[in-house]
Amino acid sequence: MTKEFDAHNSVITPEGVFVIGTYDESGKANAMTAAWGIQSDFGEITIYMSKHKTTDNIEKTGEFTVAFGTVDTVTLCDYFGIESGNNVDKIKKAGCVVNKAPNVNAPIIEGFPLVLECKCRSWDASTGILVGEIVAQQVDESILTDGHVDLGKMKPIIYDTGMQTYRVIGEVVAKAYSEGLKIKKSGDGKWDN
Ligand SMILES: Cc1cc2nc3c(=O)[nH]c(=O)nc-3n(C[C@H](O)[C@H](O)[C@H](O)COP(=O)(O)O)c2cc1C
Repeated sequence: MTKEFDAHNSVITPEGVFVIGTYDESGKANAMTAAWGIQSDFGEITIYMSKHKTTDNIEKTGEFTVAFGTVDTVTLCDYFGIESGNNVDKIKKAGCVVNKAPNVNAPIIEGFPLVLECKCRSWDASTGILVGEIVAQQVDESILTDGHVDLGKMKPIIYDTGMQTYRVIGEVVAKAYSEGLKIKKSGDGKWDN
């Protein structure tokens, strides 16, 4: 038996937890959380945005950072999504330390181990589509294994739209571009699981 849900409440998963850092025209830092983001090319991220303090800032500076939510930063991630920088200095209220990103005019918030530095490639307020060119990526060495980002160490979270919770990304279940060879190399309907 299946149950039909209305389209508005579609569970599309996984959805990320992206913290977008921006400066306003006076250099004051802000951060907001977005779930509707995705890689749209090598070196490119696309995020679907309503009008926010963040989009106002991006219209002015043309640059932003994207930090990935983790188990250790989940409280900040949720907070940045439930209050607007139009009403309060979220960075100050949360007690965050920020530093200017090395390559773009946008803040990096301490405590987030993986941060993209982005230049706005396009922003269309009518569709809400923000496209960012990733010009650099800052990675805390604590999450590296043999020079690669290790999600087991990073403990990134996803936004669970069905239950409105945050979940940690789990264990490795198979090797990509490899697991499917079991079927590719077998006779029709004869692969072993
Ligand atoms: C889990 C979560 C996911 C969110 N995802 C998005 C999103 O993808 N796009 C968006 O425009 N707003 C999203 N929001 C809402 C903004 O984060 C929120 O309106 C925030 O207050 C905007 O901050 P600002 O006004 O300081 O820019 C999300 C909020 C939460 C809690």
